[in-house]
Amino acid sequence: MTDARIAKLHGRRVWDSRGRPTVEVEAHLADGAIGRAIAPAGASTGQGEALDLRDGGPRFGGLDVHRAVGSVNDEIAPALLRLDTTDQEAVDRLLIDLDGTPDRSRLGGNAIVATSMALLHANAASADVPLWQHLAGGRPVRIPLPEIQIFGGGAHADRRVDVQDFMVVCPAAGSFSEALDWTAEIYRAAGSLMRKAGKAQGVADEGGFWPAFDSNEEALETLTRAIEAAGFTPSSQVGISLDVAASQFGSAGRYTLALDDRTLDTAALIDMLGGWIDQYPVLSVEDPVGEDDHEGMIEFTRRYGNRCQVIGDDYLVTNAKRVEAAATNGAANAVLVKPNQAGTVTEAHQALRAGKEAGFGTIVSARSGETEDVTVAHLSVGWDAGQLKVGSFTRSERMAKWNEVLRIEESLGDSAEFSGWSAFTFAGTEPSTTKP
Ligand code: PGA
Ligand code: ZN
Repeated sequence: MTDARIAKLHGRRVWDSRGRPTVEVEAHLADGAIGRAIAPAGASTGQGEALDLRDGGPRFGGLDVHRAVGSVNDEIAPALLRLDTTDQEAVDRLLIDLDGTPDRSRLGGNAIVATSMALLHANAASADVPLWQHLAGGRPVRIPLPEIQIFGGGAHADRRVDVQDFMVVCPAAGSFSEALDWTAEIYRAAGSLMRKAGKAQGVADEGGFWPAFDSNEEALETLTRAIEAAGFTPSSQVGISLDVAASQFGSAGRYTLALDDRTLDTAALIDMLGGWIDQYPVLSVEDPVGEDDHEGMIEFTRRYGNRCQVIGDDYLVTNAKRVEAAATNGAANAVLVKPNQAGTVTEAHQALRAGKEAGFGTIVSARSGETEDVTVAHLSVGWDAGQLKVGSFTRSERMAKWNEVLRIEESLGDSAEFSGWSAFTFAGTEPSTTKP
């Protein structure tokens, strides 16, 4: 017999991939089902995000989480005890009301999202189905197209290059597993090109190469050459996906590039990015201008939104209302979905659904500070997001997610459908040469 009432909720302090404390929550249900989840943490956070509760003070740069763990054990656990968790929306609503602030700053976004995700896992365990299946509820799903980082930059590599993520996407691969194979070859090719040129400096926050490039263009050039060196055709088989994360180097109207000491206005930044789209196989661009630069987002989408995916991350902060507004204004054509940016599983799902209703591409995403938690892998499949972004192709906090999707794909056998080109919703995708 299933009994999905909460028997015990326990918060504990664990460590993330940057060696910073974070919150883990373990949920025990009355029928013995257990769910566990860990809050991730961003570095290039948007202004409208749910706020993590950190201790402040001298320890670990103020980043300790004893207060957030206390929120779970002293407030959330007693308030939720014996609550039936079958209805995730009701559970999340209770968490939101208990916190009582618009930005989750009282109990902490980290405490709340870890609780919300732990209860989701417990519920799937109680129903005795994998999490993705629990989320899908019988609706058809696709295995997501992975967006995989090859070079890190921006806030994740001390501004070594301006662009935060230089990623590849392999929409022409026949399966998720094949997309990973292709990426592994490209990653190796990129590494060898960099070593030959003396440009490999180390590893950035999400595990991609920390490059010693002299310009953003050198990164684009090297990545395109790596795609070719690995035996693939740029654009028709493998594309480049960029997270510009422009809020990290400017705001409405003024952008300061680290490498050549130039300051650009919005129009010049858009022209520069447009030049890259013309010259390199760029299929996707995230946060091309600052999060407060609405006109810039509209202009960029107007000019390039029929040639590439335009993702709002910091700009949309996984917020359904912002997604609806962006759809009305033509200020993006895709939304990044980060559960801890929204605050709860339910709110993240609302943002994703708003994206789908608007015909946007939807990308479930991890954060730069991650752990072994693989919840996002299941969300991307169970919600049929079509795309998944979790960082690079090295380091286990990243590989754990890719490997989890491999397991899901295998479990689906012949019925597994890889999203491939269907992940992209902008006009003009799926060049005829690439259709298998
Ligand atoms: P963050 O960055 O997790 O450091 O905020 C990830 C992203 O911008 O997509
Ligand atoms: Zn981003």
